[in-house]
Amino acid sequence: MNYFFITGSSKGLGKFLTELLLEDENNIVYGIARSSSIEHERYIHSNIDLSKLNDVTLYKFPIFENAEKIVLVNNAGMVGDVKHVGNIDNQQIIDCYNLNLIAPVILTNNFISKYANLSCNKMVLNISSGAGRTPIDGWNVYCSTKAGLDMFSQVLKEEVEIDDSNIKVLSLAPGIIDTDMQVQIRAAEESAFSNIEKFIEYKKDGDLTPANITAQQVLRFIKEEGLSTNVICSVRDLTK
Ligand SMILES: NC(=O)c1ccc[n+]([C@@H]2O[C@H](COP(=O)([O-])OP(=O)(O)OC[C@H]3O[C@@H](n4cnc5c(N)ncnc54)[C@H](OP(=O)(O)O)[C@@H]3O)[C@@H](O)[C@H]2O)c1
Repeated sequence: MNYFFITGSSKGLGKFLTELLLEDENNIVYGIARSSSIEHERYIHSNIDLSKLNDVTLYKFPIFENAEKIVLVNNAGMVGDVKHVGNIDNQQIIDCYNLNLIAPVILTNNFISKYANLSCNKMVLNISSGAGRTPIDGWNVYCSTKAGLDMFSQVLKEEVEIDDSNIKVLSLAPGIIDTDMQVQIRAAEESAFSNIEKFIEYKKDGDLTPANITAQQVLRFIKEEGLSTNVICSVRDLTK
């Protein structure tokens, strides 16, 4: 069997990716989010607020006897308070770093501790963002969490190679997706976010990718392990 752990499986990209994976009867998916919207015999949900780090540390990865492939997808994320530094709510800063960066690091640490010695295929797929690679005003915290996730992934790749633990590591930017995250971005105050018009236009012009399409693109990076030899990658790297 193939086992997948997906954070943020209740909506948006994570939900579509979970549903796609469940189409294959060899796959079992463990989802983590604050709410659940999938009922399926091969779906196991854990209700966890991933910004509460004590709860994250308590998440237990199960023991598998028959695994062919085990994959952790750190997908849950929030854009947080879209404001310039000086005006951001401090609790939002804490929650955003916890959810977008520290929770993925803790989950990856526990995932590797549990499975590194298994001989099956293993993968850590971090859902990053172009925002971690280009500065965007009003998104300082979001950009820096994703930049941190990119660097965490790059160092992790070096470590798993040195340790010979047969774990593929990717930090994948999924493009601009038509999800609730974009709704929140468009709801920002104009004075706090100089790019807001651009994001309103993306929606009006149909430039946002439907989440089910992005999920198919992400699935290719999971299935076709040779698709990207670079840790830092993007769905925009796909040529066909
Ligand atoms: N949308 C875009 O244009 C875009 C662009 C680049 C990168 N990304 C990245 O893609 C990933 C998915 O984004 P999306 O657009 O699908 O977002 P979304 O529609 O807002 O969904 C976010 C998911 O994360 C979960 N989540 C949020 N806060 C949580 C918390 N405190 N604890 C546990 N789970 C939590 C949500 O579930 P609950 O609310 O049930 O907890 C939901 O399942 C994110 O990492 C995002 O940064 C998105």
